[in-house]
Amino acid sequence: MSNDPFNLSGGLPDPAELAQLASEFFAALPNGERNPLRGVPAPDLPAGLPGHFSRNEVGQSVGVHPAPVGIPTTPPATPRAAVAEVAPAGYTAALPAIEPLKQHSPAPTTPFYFLGDVSSYPAGNPGGANLPGLQTFSTPTDTDLRGLLNAEEPALRSGGIPSARAADASNPAGSFYFIDPLRYPGPQGSHAGAAPNLAASARPPFDVHAIRKDFPILQERVNGRQLVWFDNAATTQKPQSVIDRISYFYEHENSNIHRAAHELAARATDAYESARKKVAKFLGASSAEEIIFVRGTTEAINMVAKTWGVQHIGEGDEIIVSHLEHHANIVPWQQLATQTGAKIRVIPVDDSGQVILSEYTRLLNSRTKLVSVTQVSNALGTVVPVKEIIDLAHRAGAKVLIDGAQSVSHMRVNVQALDADFFVFSGHKLFGPTGIGVVYGKRDILENMQPWQGGGNMIADVTFERTIYQPPPNRFEAGTGNIADAVGLGAAIDYIERIGIENIARYEHDLLAYATYGMQSIRGVRLIGTAQDKASVLSFVLDGYQTEEVGKALNEEGIAVRSGHHCAQPILRRFGLEATVRPSLAFYNTCEEVDRLVSVVARLVAQRKTPYK
Ligand code: ALA
Repeated sequence: MSNDPFNLSGGLPDPAELAQLASEFFAALPNGERNPLRGVPAPDLPAGLPGHFSRNEVGQSVGVHPAPVGIPTTPPATPRAAVAEVAPAGYTAALPAIEPLKQHSPAPTTPFYFLGDVSSYPAGNPGGANLPGLQTFSTPTDTDLRGLLNAEEPALRSGGIPSARAADASNPAGSFYFIDPLRYPGPQGSHAGAAPNLAASARPPFDVHAIRKDFPILQERVNGRQLVWFDNAATTQKPQSVIDRISYFYEHENSNIHRAAHELAARATDAYESARKKVAKFLGASSAEEIIFVRGTTEAINMVAKTWGVQHIGEGDEIIVSHLEHHANIVPWQQLATQTGAKIRVIPVDDSGQVILSEYTRLLNSRTKLVSVTQVSNALGTVVPVKEIIDLAHRAGAKVLIDGAQSVSHMRVNVQALDADFFVFSGHKLFGPTGIGVVYGKRDILENMQPWQGGGNMIADVTFERTIYQPPPNRFEAGTGNIADAVGLGAAIDYIERIGIENIARYEHDLLAYATYGMQSIRGVRLIGTAQDKASVLSFVLDGYQTEEVGKALNEEGIAVRSGHHCAQPILRRFGLEATVRPSLAFYNTCEEVDRLVSVVARLVAQRKTPYK
């Protein structure tokens, strides 16, 4: 056996060596006899595999995330098989190929690693910042971008790119929102030193082209062109590991949970509760009991309004929201206000689309019972200073709900460090399935909250005279929930943690800077939302065109963007608009895709019938 079992140094591995590695691996498992993969031979490698090996020991493709090791099937022919075929020149090992094998060992109590407490991602190293041998291709490095940004500083300032705060000698880490340790503390909740030392590494440690191979839909063709998915604020695409995990659930585990005393009920329950633990860890909650599964962010906010809100908000009380809010964070509070006689107060935003904290401070008073704000605006991309907002609200004695629908996929969230009372998000915006979402609530708040829906699963005992409820979280999960998609969300979190949310944040920042630069250079483009701290979103209008015309022209070139009001009419009207075109980026997007966007918009400008004055 060679001294380089993961082939980090390059060269084509020997299939016999691989087979031997696989059998040594399974023989070494503490619970080996329960491993479903025991005895599965390593398949033959495709001849002439270019570059480096990109399959794991059991032949599963590993772009960035391996399929669950517990899936006892041979790898599907497409599209995952394609992962191994076209490693770009210079491609080195992706993350899973260099992870210690023990991370995929089964949990002691279950044959499947994903059913137990054992996380499949490395604890305490979410950024994977020290992993060797990873590099990007065709993406701007910090140096490239800083050169670009410094050259264009005045224009970019007005474009909302945080270039003015990019790293310099006196501030080597810069002050980007995603590396501000106070506002965006690390996964352990500690403020000091939790943020990755980005200045120490010249490039984000992942390969976007390898990552893209984990997302089969990105190979789709639309109108004869390869799809460009720039509608990530509406929903994100799913990696193969999430798709596989949901299939696996239905193939091997499907059952209702918590009730029946049989093997599949136990498997389904373990899978579901394991997903809850993953969410708790991902959000930095103090326990899984603080995590309630719901349908999505909209249902999450409605649940809080109809439970905690009805209990605690009465006539003359005040609820503060910001001007940036999605309709889902406006309408439930209006309904509550109508029902109770409470008032809605709105934090205004400045012309860049950032909330005005001094105005917010003036709104707070002893009647303020709740502040409910988004962490990232879905329409403008503004990153809101929620830590400051929460601290100020607490000083006034109010509780705070943070709408994390647009933030969790772009930045590290730690609900304890933020001290959020409620934090809500949707699985489908985090590369997970639709129909599953989360309410985080502080334990003491949840324990004192009445349920909103009654039925099975949420009760401890029922007579015709009275019902005794379960403690949280079950108290808030009446009936049969979306079990399979909760499990899928757990797989999505595994995937994200494997890449490292800090790596994602950094890469996306560079990409957004690049896209902003490109869009701003087009005459007639007006960017809507130019706050210094932004994530993902690049809303704009184009002189001489309706937004739907721009959306249609982009669609003809295979580029998916949302055009319209983005379920956030108040903030668009604040800028005198009813609609914008909204490209929104994720970590699988590339500079080449941005170039395609820019060239279509530039072509529209060139075709414009009325010349600019
Ligand atoms: N909230 C989603 C969006 O912003 C639907 O597009």
